[in-house]
Amino acid sequence: MSATLATVSYIGATILFILSLGGLSNPESSRRGNLYGMIGMTIAVLATVFGPQVTPAGYVWIIAAMAVGASVGLYAARVVRMTQMPELVALMHSLVGLAAMLVGYANYIDPAAAGTFKGAEKTIHELEIYLGILIGAVTFSGSVIAFGKLSAKISGKPVLLPGRHWINLTGLLVVIGFGWSFINTHAVADGMIPLIVMTVIALAFGIHMVMAIGGADMPVVISMLNSYSGWAAAATGFMLNNDLLIVTGALVGSSGAILSYIMCRAMNRHFIAVIAGGFGTEGGVPAAAGGVQPAGEVVPILAAETAELLREAKNVIIVPGYGMAVAQAQHAVYEITRHLREKGVNVRFGIHPVAGRMPGHMNVLLAEARVPYDIVLEMDELNVDFPETDVAMVIGANDIVNPSAQDDPASPIAGMPVLEVWKARTSIVMKRSMASGYAGVDNPLFYKENNRMLFGDAKKMLDEVLVALKG
Ligand code: TAP
Repeated sequence: MSATLATVSYIGATILFILSLGGLSNPESSRRGNLYGMIGMTIAVLATVFGPQVTPAGYVWIIAAMAVGASVGLYAARVVRMTQMPELVALMHSLVGLAAMLVGYANYIDPAAAGTFKGAEKTIHELEIYLGILIGAVTFSGSVIAFGKLSAKISGKPVLLPGRHWINLTGLLVVIGFGWSFINTHAVADGMIPLIVMTVIALAFGIHMVMAIGGADMPVVISMLNSYSGWAAAATGFMLNNDLLIVTGALVGSSGAILSYIMCRAMNRHFIAVIAGGFGTEGGVPAAAGGVQPAGEVVPILAAETAELLREAKNVIIVPGYGMAVAQAQHAVYEITRHLREKGVNVRFGIHPVAGRMPGHMNVLLAEARVPYDIVLEMDELNVDFPETDVAMVIGANDIVNPSAQDDPASPIAGMPVLEVWKARTSIVMKRSMASGYAGVDNPLFYKENNRMLFGDAKKMLDEVLVALKG
């Protein structure tokens, strides 16, 4: 393939990636967005493999690497459950970071490049290598720790070393100092020492940064590492002189940064406070782990009584959460929704931006179950409607419907916007026990007078409700 054709293909792929991101911003256009992304990536891979930078001798390596990569990817896509997606994504980010590191080292010791760059060009080239390895190393080790935390292989509790901000600041100054000596060395062998020292510090910083972040802030960490992996890819693009990689990396980097901002807003957290760490505990701890400890009793309800309340309702809002994903109850939810809508009940879904364990988690599950997009609304669109709602049905959600976020300034989730289900005439919370949610805080909603608890696995309970509704 000629260099011109490769460039044209790269431009085409870039446009498709931009269209893909645009499409993914809305559930209705997301399938199309995915398709654009897939076509764009196919063009990008073909244009690179058959492009002018690859010699025929390299094909054996490329085909072997693609066979291994594609097999691992196919296997992961088949076996990884939806609830494990954040872990998988974290693992993939770590690979982007590792690739940036390796490309950086390979670029530096490449004998073909030696002596090619002179003066300012040499400084810029070395700066690219230094920054590429730095970002790659932070992304790599940070993502590995995020994977460990998300898969509960290491504790979700923040690990806070004494004087941790000073440790980070010292690390930064050392990295800058060694960067200076790196670009001022002449022989490759001399530059290796600052490069290796910086890599070790960057790896340690990545570990330290994510270890200090508590479980409740993990949504932000995932999108932040997503952003880092984009910048790592862009840095690799600079090192390899590959425009497509630069643009794609910048797209991922900036969209990840925007997502981090949206996540922070959804949790009422400041980005700097998240990075500074220390917030949140392990998920799934028993109730009353923190925050207010409301006195009172819960009122349990049966599936048949739930069906009765739903049958009599005119307006119903369903709030799904992580438990719906665990129970894989989305299809049962859809069946109930269809049944109620056929009977003329106005059923809508309220989606919190951090419901579940990954951005868009609930939207994906509901789309999979073919719930119409127009009845799936965002928290802000729906919160005003709760006072006119007969039944608010909470399916496996907890933190996102916790009133202490509004009422208790001492609560660890104080200030986080929540779905105000308690304002409905009756709220029904479907979960297995009184255990707390991801943030590990008790939920006063359960004890409210107009709240009922439907204890049990969400899928099992919804199946029972459907049978009762049909009966
Ligand atoms: P959570 O607050 O984690 O609550 C989920 C609830 O589901 C639990 O209290 C659990 O109670 C229940 N549950 C679990 N399995 C169930 C099953 N099979 N059937 C019925 N119920 C089940 O979830 P949420 O309300 O969706 O809030 C999300 C939380 O995760 C937030 O704190 C958010 O910050 C955090 N987070 C979000 C993300 C993203 S990006 N969305 C990423 C990481 C963390 P039982 O054990 O009693 O059943």
